Amino acid sequence: TRKIIIDTDPGQDDAVAILLALASPELQVLGITCVAGNVPLPLTVRNAQLVCELAGRREVKIYAGCDRPMSRLLVTAENVHGKTGLDGITLPDPTMPLQSQHAVDFLIETLRSEPAGSVTLVPIGPLTNIATALERAPDIAERIAEIVMMAGAYFEVGNVTPSAEFNIFVDPQAADIVFRSGIALTVMPLDVTHKALTNRARIEAFRALPGKVGPVVASWADFFERYDMEKYGSEGAPLHDPCAIAYLLNPDLFNGRHINVEIETGSELTMGMTVADWWHVTDRPPNAYFIGEVDADRYFALLTERIALL
Ligand code: BDR
Ligand code: CA
Repeated sequence: TRKIIIDTDPGQDDAVAILLALASPELQVLGITCVAGNVPLPLTVRNAQLVCELAGRREVKIYAGCDRPMSRLLVTAENVHGKTGLDGITLPDPTMPLQSQHAVDFLIETLRSEPAGSVTLVPIGPLTNIATALERAPDIAERIAEIVMMAGAYFEVGNVTPSAEFNIFVDPQAADIVFRSGIALTVMPLDVTHKALTNRARIEAFRALPGKVGPVVASWADFFERYDMEKYGSEGAPLHDPCAIAYLLNPDLFNGRHINVEIETGSELTMGMTVADWWHVTDRPPNAYFIGEVDADRYFALLTERIALL
């Protein structure tokens, strides 16, 4: 099994990513670290608890992390995720415990105590917690096996401004630290997540699952879809964040390129842009494996098959 820490701002798609990880015996979730992003920190923490409880996994360790980006004001996305961040169905308030340690301290302590190269980080929200840990404890960088994240874009460019993807836009300084860290990075940008769209058949497959989790996932997906369908007239909505977990389970579902990626932190106009050298037009060395393709049918089949286990 592979040890992972999920760093997240749930969010319906984050919730599905967490469920996929908890349902998968190949992965050992050492902890879930929460960050401000889609909604403010108290809600992302609550939502992480709610998801673990839904999965019947009250023993999972959940940590609250940074409540704001490193140097900018927090930007949230209630327009996409609803007021709670998990709109679509009302579930009971969670009662499972929250760890008292700060998420950043947990990250540092875990990376120092686990064998070097044995822990993979999976950030699916703004990179504030990860970058803060790297700034405070630079020694952990070489102990991280790999970072597999949902972030950025190249041809698809932006979903929150014309040039930036939400997770990077919220905390570009943090993203800059991570992309310069020298750690092995695998990135799921909008270009690939926009090839993993929900549709009626895929959502109904969740709803038809026995047990209570599948129908909840279907309700979240219904709500989440509405934004993209109304705004862009697209067929469904990209289920972004589970791509990062699916990659750990079956990298063969994906295809990408090793490229150089730099983060725009200066210009307000293009703040948070992932300047991705997809065509190798510079000789800057690659620092990220940027994914571009996914087998969407097999991706949704994997999601459905695993969520059925919960
Ligand atoms: C990312 O932003 C959030 O709204 C989603 O949860 C995902 O992590 C997509 O840009
Ligand atoms: Ca997210």
